This record gives sequence, structure tokens and C-alpha cells, in this order.
Amino acid sequence: MEKGDRMVDKVAILILHGPNLNLLGTRETEFYGTLTLAEIDNRLVQVGETKGVEIRTFQANGEGELIDALHEARDWADGVVFNPGAYTHTSIALRDAVAAIGIPVVEVHLSNVYARERFRHRSLIAPVCVGKITGFGWRSYLYGLDAVMDLISKDGE
Ligand code: DQA
Repeated sequence: MEKGDRMVDKVAILILHGPNLNLLGTRETEFYGTLTLAEIDNRLVQVGETKGVEIRTFQANGEGELIDALHEARDWADGVVFNPGAYTHTSIALRDAVAAIGIPVVEVHLSNVYARERFRHRSLIAPVCVGKITGFGWRSYLYGLDAVMDLISKDGE
């Protein structure tokens, strides 16, 4: 598989978390569950290990850092699982970054955004993603990871 100007054989996925997700474990647990971000990340890294996939995780509260992480992913990642948090509903800049990088991005949310306030029903990011998973708690990331890995392995089909 070719990434940038390198030839590498291991699939690599970025798990990207947006604002306030660093507070998982204590934040509005009725929506987001009781696992911490570190616990979720560890589970995903373990899944990656069993499947021979490199998983890197990153969280930022600022739009700029998230945009930089997406740009950098072009150089090493085959896909991205992205929970943009509240920026989902507001950020044209993040949407443009997702559209620009040319690697598949799956949008994920812990809560079911459609069962919540109307302002959460709109996503500026979803139209430029390959798909979206919402409402399965931390498993939304797991299913997102599965989806992006499946997509990469079936590239061209
Ligand atoms: C969220 C849903 C967003 O509406 C909210 O702003 C978040 C978390 C989720 O994972 O359910 O911060 O992305």
C-alpha cells in the first residue's frame, strides 16, 4: 500500500476526538457513558493489535489542532474515525479539512444525536464522510473502526 511517498504494508487508522471528549467518564454520563477517553482508546488500540492494524489516537479541544491532525493523517493514515463533538454542528473549517485530505473518514458519536436537541441533527461533516455511526456509546468507535477497515480492505471493489 502506498502512503505519500512511502511504501508500507500495515494499515494505519487515526481515531480523532473533538472538544470536551477529554472529560468522558464524568461528563453527562447518561449520554456518554462512564468509560474514560483513555479506556476507550485502549480498547481500540487492542482491537487494532488483534487485527494487525496500527491505531493512533488524538484528542483536541481546538478546531485548529483537529485540522492539523487531519492534514498530518494524509502522510501516514489509511482512514480516520472522527468524533468532532459539537464542531459537528458548526464547523465549515473541519468539513473542508475532511474533504481535502482524500482518505476515508467515518463520523461517529457516542450518543444518538437524532434523539437529542434539534441543533444536533445537523452535521456539516457527514456529507464529506463515507458514513456516520451514532448512538452506540463507546462502541460507535468500534463499529466506525470496523467500517473503515472493511472499506480499506475492499478498496476498488
Ligand atoms: C457527541 C454529540 C455532540 O452533539 C456533542 O456536542 C458532543 C458529543 C457524541 O459523541 O455523542 O460533544 O459528538
